[in-house]
Amino acid sequence: MCGIVGYTGPRDAGPVLLDGLRRLEYRGYDSAGIALVTDNGDLFVEKRAGKVAVLTDALGGGPPSAGIGLGHTRWATHGRPSDLNAHPHSDCTGRITVIHNGIVENFRELRDELVAGGHTLKSETDTEVVAHLVEDAYKGDLADAVRVALGRLEGAYALVVMHRDEPQRLVGARLNAPLIVGLGDGESFVASDAAAIIAYTKRVIFLADGDVADLTPGTATITDRLGVVVDRPIDIIPWSAEAAEKGGYAHFMLKEIHEQPAALTAAMTGRLRGESVRLEELDGIRTRLSGIDRVELIACGTAYYASLVGAALFQDWLGVPARSTVASEFRYSPPPIDARTLVVAVTQSGETADTIAAARLAGDRGAVVVAVTNTVGSAITRESHASVFLQAGPEVAVAATKTFVTQVATVVMLAADIAHQLGRLPAETERDLVGALRRLPEQAERAIELSVAAEEIADRYASAAGFMYIGRSFGYPAALEGALKIKEISYLHAEGYAAGELKHGPISLLDAEVPLVAIATRSAVYEKLISNLMEGKARDARVLAVATEGDDQIGRLATDVLWVPDTIEPLSTILAVIPLQLFAYYVAVKRGRDVDQPRNLAKSVTVE
Ligand code: M6R
Repeated sequence: MCGIVGYTGPRDAGPVLLDGLRRLEYRGYDSAGIALVTDNGDLFVEKRAGKVAVLTDALGGGPPSAGIGLGHTRWATHGRPSDLNAHPHSDCTGRITVIHNGIVENFRELRDELVAGGHTLKSETDTEVVAHLVEDAYKGDLADAVRVALGRLEGAYALVVMHRDEPQRLVGARLNAPLIVGLGDGESFVASDAAAIIAYTKRVIFLADGDVADLTPGTATITDRLGVVVDRPIDIIPWSAEAAEKGGYAHFMLKEIHEQPAALTAAMTGRLRGESVRLEELDGIRTRLSGIDRVELIACGTAYYASLVGAALFQDWLGVPARSTVASEFRYSPPPIDARTLVVAVTQSGETADTIAAARLAGDRGAVVVAVTNTVGSAITRESHASVFLQAGPEVAVAATKTFVTQVATVVMLAADIAHQLGRLPAETERDLVGALRRLPEQAERAIELSVAAEEIADRYASAAGFMYIGRSFGYPAALEGALKIKEISYLHAEGYAAGELKHGPISLLDAEVPLVAIATRSAVYEKLISNLMEGKARDARVLAVATEGDDQIGRLATDVLWVPDTIEPLSTILAVIPLQLFAYYVAVKRGRDVDQPRNLAKSVTVE
């Protein structure tokens, strides 16, 4: 969703904010703006529809010199992207400015009330009401005024507020949207995530829901909404500023695809012991895990596809019912949940509103909740009894790649660990799994090498009218994820389908303009998949197969083949998706798309 950054301290705030906005742009990029209290004591605001580059151009010779300011990059919810609707928003006096991520659900009612009270609101946004509420509440202390205003808001927010007359002070607040405080030497930062400030400080406080952060250069006081001081630990961000740079690659997505072998190594570090899988993060909930009789996985988008692998393995290895449900459906149509239900919430960002709400509901109903996330300190960790981190490092491209493969690896390890604890995982199965996991990073490297053909193949498929991706069993999540990658970044329609369902309807879409992409890696259902592939071929569709090295029949059946190394079936999803990521990447490049920041999307979706 939106990206937020604020700074107060001795540096020139403008460049710090613009740098932060460029790093945060993946959160939302339909408009951007900054506000500064200049060294002359004036409030300076510049905001533009479009990307941060448009804002930078509008600033010409650069922003005026200032020691404090706010910056925002927007993913529109209320009000179309325009200069006027871009943040920051100001009050009637032009002294108070606000940036916001989230949705003020009661903004219409508040807006009517403010207008009736004599306020003039200029934009179509929900955010602007906050500036006017703070204006009404202001009696000389910004933090007090913000706390009063927060009492009127319903919905979700990460907010930062600045007052021209308190030119060293920023006040931030969060409820159901991420916000962190950065502690520098004689300077303070506030941001929606660490990427914005990592170049300046690694010392951060992850604010909790209901927190209000009162910042001056070098001081940070955290209170609740009543003004009572609360104690929050200082965390150290474990990655460097360079980790969030492109490092010579044309796009973050390409870099992150190439980082997958290392990300898989990191995801397994400390978790493979001899011939066993062991997740120490579960040690605090072992007693509860010993009694589970059902597993529900919840997730959205790519994380949902990863969770399908987990559901299959929990069911197979634990012998209990297990399934995955998209979080937005789970929430409003929850299954029976009790203290014997294990709920696994899979979310890269840890901030996805639907997943958090579903996890909260499950926790409220007594389930034991485990988060699988890439983001230490994220909201999902507070909704969970245990958190297992992907350890994949920062992912900047909107299209998930390395977090998909590490999510799959992590849910596989999670299922194996719990099945082992319950005494239901045969030693031989676990030994084979651990061996295959250990080989995985090297095989992922090989899958990347083998995908050298993806660019040339993409060239021939880039003008297709659409794609049909099919897979069975562990190939099915790879088909879904491959199709999503194409949709997200090339804007071509692509359908991910269970191969056996092809003949029940979608086969009518196939023709010479709509190729079939078949996940035909070695598996127990290989022959069945081949039958489905032939059904597509018989309809004149070109067939692009993902197949296992050494398969000597697929070359005769498919138009083109992308090869991957052999592995055990539960891990085949990971290797099969790698050429599909590269294929989608090159199709998007050929079509001239904005690969890292595709239209209408944002990296983390903090609204329902
Ligand atoms: O942060 P999360 O894993 O919860 O995000 C869930 C989805 O929004 C995300 O996977 C989305 O589908 C990606 N853009 C896919 O590339």
